[in-house]
Amino acid sequence: MTKNTFKSPLDKKELSEIKKRMFGKNPELPSYPFGNGPSILEFEKKFAKFIGVKYAITTTSGSTALTLSLASLDLPEDSEILVPGMSFIATANAVYNLKFKIKFIDVDENFNIDPLDVEKKISRNTKAIIVVHLYGRPANMDSINKIARNHKLTIIEDACQSHGATYKGKKTGSIGDLGCFSFYTTKNMTTGEGGMITTNSEKLANKIKLLRSHGYVNTTNNYTFSGAGYNFAMTTMQAILGIVQLTKIAKLNFCRKKIYDIYRKNLSNLNLILPKESITKDTSSACHLFPILFTEKLSENYSAIVKNIKREGIPFSITYPEPMFMAPHFKISYLGDCPMSEKYCKSIITLFTDFNISPKQAYTISKKIANIIKKYVK
Ligand SMILES: Cc1ncc(COP(=O)(O)O)c(C=O)c1O
Repeated sequence: MTKNTFKSPLDKKELSEIKKRMFGKNPELPSYPFGNGPSILEFEKKFAKFIGVKYAITTTSGSTALTLSLASLDLPEDSEILVPGMSFIATANAVYNLKFKIKFIDVDENFNIDPLDVEKKISRNTKAIIVVHLYGRPANMDSINKIARNHKLTIIEDACQSHGATYKGKKTGSIGDLGCFSFYTTKNMTTGEGGMITTNSEKLANKIKLLRSHGYVNTTNNYTFSGAGYNFAMTTMQAILGIVQLTKIAKLNFCRKKIYDIYRKNLSNLNLILPKESITKDTSSACHLFPILFTEKLSENYSAIVKNIKREGIPFSITYPEPMFMAPHFKISYLGDCPMSEKYCKSIITLFTDFNISPKQAYTISKKIANIIKKYVK
């Protein structure tokens, strides 16, 4: 077995809650028909309160949250869905797998869907926009909301990287029609694998619950089904992890912010394009990752700099090395259509902000990167 160098995001609190709820006097079952177990329902209620919406529906992942959200809209087959050029591939695959038409939109200086490009590319068949709050930074929701209102579009927020981020006082996932969250291990809070959909619409919440569990109509034990659906129900253990993680999210996000702020301070004045402050007048970021863009001049030495950073053993990722439309199934027919997405992916590195990085390590990491960059800045 290869040795894992990462610390577990879970501790004794999660373990004792699982023992209490699943191995105590009145043990909960590992799972319940159609995702209706007591801990699952409790997690949904608590997450809805945390985000500030009426309804939250658990699911198996951020990917299935996106799939269910799109499927719940009952869109005609030829519907077109707008998606930003930069995100994790799951955002685009949800559209692709449901066989809707996808149109990629370029990103703005915050790596989020650019409202100006949305305006340019909307067509008669456009029915929804998936807005990703990439790296934890909320997208320009005022502009997106305005466009959506004018064109009668549904907004799905992909908040898989932005648990707890706020835009003008509202949490991401509560601003559009539907919010999608991932609880994968590396996310701001985790249930191992897992996901959640948030909404204020009773109609959409009910539709999503049906779709999530094969169209199952009620929880009494009669097997009647109202239509097609999936089995995307969460397990009891995941929900218990989620309940405990939710009690830690403020602290976890605060720790990420601390690391983000250290990177930002130590990497300024270096010909690097850094993300905005963690808290601005209108937004607070969930600081999921710290993206660093190289200026055009530095980009000429991108490969050499990345090699040097690797050689120093500095933990980092290239998230993402390509816009989503470069994946073979999108046939790269969008080349040239989203120039900023292409440019950013060729000149980005992302630093981790999670609890595996202590403030002292963040200081060392940023100082080491600064020293490497200085060699290339003339
Ligand atoms: C922006 C974004 N969307 C969607 C997903 C998919 O979430 P999951 O891995 O839980 O399916 C992720 C996960 O990495 C993500 O970062």
